[in-house]
Amino acid sequence: MTAPHDPQGPAFTVHLGGSGGTVKGWVVVDSLVDGLAMGGTRMTPGVTEEEVAGLARDMTEKFTLAGLRIGGAKAGIVSDGSDRERTFRTFGRTVKPLLHGGIHLGIDMGVTPADRAVFFEEAGYDPRYRLGAPDMPIDWRTYYEPLIDCTGHGVGVAAVTALEGGHRTGPARVVVQGFGAVGRAVARFLEDRGHVVVGIADVQGTVSADRLPVADLVEITDEFGRIDHSRLPQGVTVSTAPDAWLDVDADLLVLAAQKYALNDENVHRLRAALVVEGANLASTAEAKEKVAAAGGVLVPGVIANIGGAGSAALAVTRIVPFELSDAARKDWVFDWVAERVRRNTRDLLDIAASRAGNPLPELLDARRKELR
Ligand SMILES: NC(=O)c1ccc[n+]([C@@H]2O[C@H](COP(=O)([O-])OP(=O)(O)OC[C@H]3O[C@@H](n4cnc5c(N)ncnc54)[C@H](O)[C@@H]3O)[C@@H](O)[C@H]2O)c1
Repeated sequence: MTAPHDPQGPAFTVHLGGSGGTVKGWVVVDSLVDGLAMGGTRMTPGVTEEEVAGLARDMTEKFTLAGLRIGGAKAGIVSDGSDRERTFRTFGRTVKPLLHGGIHLGIDMGVTPADRAVFFEEAGYDPRYRLGAPDMPIDWRTYYEPLIDCTGHGVGVAAVTALEGGHRTGPARVVVQGFGAVGRAVARFLEDRGHVVVGIADVQGTVSADRLPVADLVEITDEFGRIDHSRLPQGVTVSTAPDAWLDVDADLLVLAAQKYALNDENVHRLRAALVVEGANLASTAEAKEKVAAAGGVLVPGVIANIGGAGSAALAVTRIVPFELSDAARKDWVFDWVAERVRRNTRDLLDIAASRAGNPLPELLDARRKELR
């Protein structure tokens, strides 16, 4: 048994050229634990090996922080998504030995559950079965699909924990950047707990009001997270200025859209004292430093957004009590994720309060020791 270590580079990188067809991309296995690693598959025209490696490292950190005995990996396919059937068939044949060898690849940006079904089928891979592991008694979709809000749930827990840690009483004013699966779930979670959502951004712009009606906005949002601006409730203001979500006066900003949303160019506009990353790599290193230097608190994605990856890893490592009913199993997974997020958020804030500098490496060291 090996614990995730802290290597300078990935455990290994596979350059994909295709098998029985052409595909360009990489599978980066950042770390292996007990012969296992996992992560999503991203497909964009501009994805780079460096980006995939950064995301694979993020996966290692997420699993280490969550106390899960599995390494981090990520796949990237360079494509604009045209001819996706052929692409995913070729991808499935190419990564077949990895899938059967303990490297579980799921979905990420630009890849849908239907695409995953294609490459799993082409590889003859069914995550229910793995040599040396007990079979999963239910199929992957039955397990995973009810957990769609799990990431948003964990991000909400991180936000509430950090607000409590800051001894905040009363409702916080919240801006949510990104209104997809994660953003919608966080907005609902926080509103349910008495906080007030005052701004929501999607790719078209930012809507704001003294109190946004989250459920009404969810109703007029499509599956891609685009709010129908022609049907906005009364009293809601729209701004299409770049990054207008930064200009809304708020106590808490949740980043649940694209990578590097908060960066060196725009961080000076930040008004919220607390930032929680729902997206991966949501802020640049420079932006993080500036938030800390200004006395703000930032809870990174590797702590807050583990819900999707963590719940998949719980199944791959067979930790989930599969015998529970569907509803009880979902509650079990949500509670498991919430507990890890809460503990990591609290410990991160304690370290941050005790000394200057980035508190994450110290927390990672502590969790690595627990896994040994
Ligand atoms: N879904 C998960 O379980 C999960 C888990 C971990 C990390 N993530 C990451 O979190 C992010 C959000 O995930 P999701 O599943 O909600 O994605 P999604 O595609 O469902 O939604 C993305 C949202 O961000 C908005 N957006 C895109 N670019 C924007 C911009 N420049 N400014 C403002 N808004 C913008 C879109 O309009 C949409 O509302 C992604 O980066 C994803 O990789 C998702």
